[in-house]
Amino acid sequence: MKLKINGQEVEIDDAYGSGLLIWAIRDGAGLMGTKFGCGAGICGSCTVHIDGEAVRSCITPVQNVVDADIRTLEGLPNEDGMLHPVQQAFIEQQVPQCAWCMSGQMMSAAALLEQNENPTQEEIVEAMSENYCRCGCYFRIKSAVARAAEIKQEMA
Ligand code: FES
Ligand code: FES
Repeated sequence: MKLKINGQEVEIDDAYGSGLLIWAIRDGAGLMGTKFGCGAGICGSCTVHIDGEAVRSCITPVQNVVDADIRTLEGLPNEDGMLHPVQQAFIEQQVPQCAWCMSGQMMSAAALLEQNENPTQEEIVEAMSENYCRCGCYFRIKSAVARAAEIKQEMA
């Protein structure tokens, strides 16, 4: 079967078609940027974009997304390889500690900035509130999302 991931048709084994999206992405397509955490739709570490919306891949059946545009962390840089403003900001602000949650954090932040180019602090907190960080990097995450919005506007 094929899935459209990061703008490309990706061939994956049919066996993944009856399972959950995270395993089709990681094991089927070999894209390891998407992380498994709780496996129950709670922590947000497995967040990817489905047609531009932040979605938890650990509870998303592959059958629901066969015709969708799937975007993973590997698809955040632009076609020239330039890092996404969210990635630039997370590096600039030295956000990660263990980094396990960071793929999901960046995917949620990128989805927010697609929908709201200039979010307020309250809107950032609200949008990021369902992405958990065991290392407690919340202050730096919030700061980096605000910085990413600035970088995105500078690049426009
Ligand atoms: S691993 Fe998917 S929400 Fe936690
Ligand atoms: S940086 Fe460790 S879980 Fe977030």
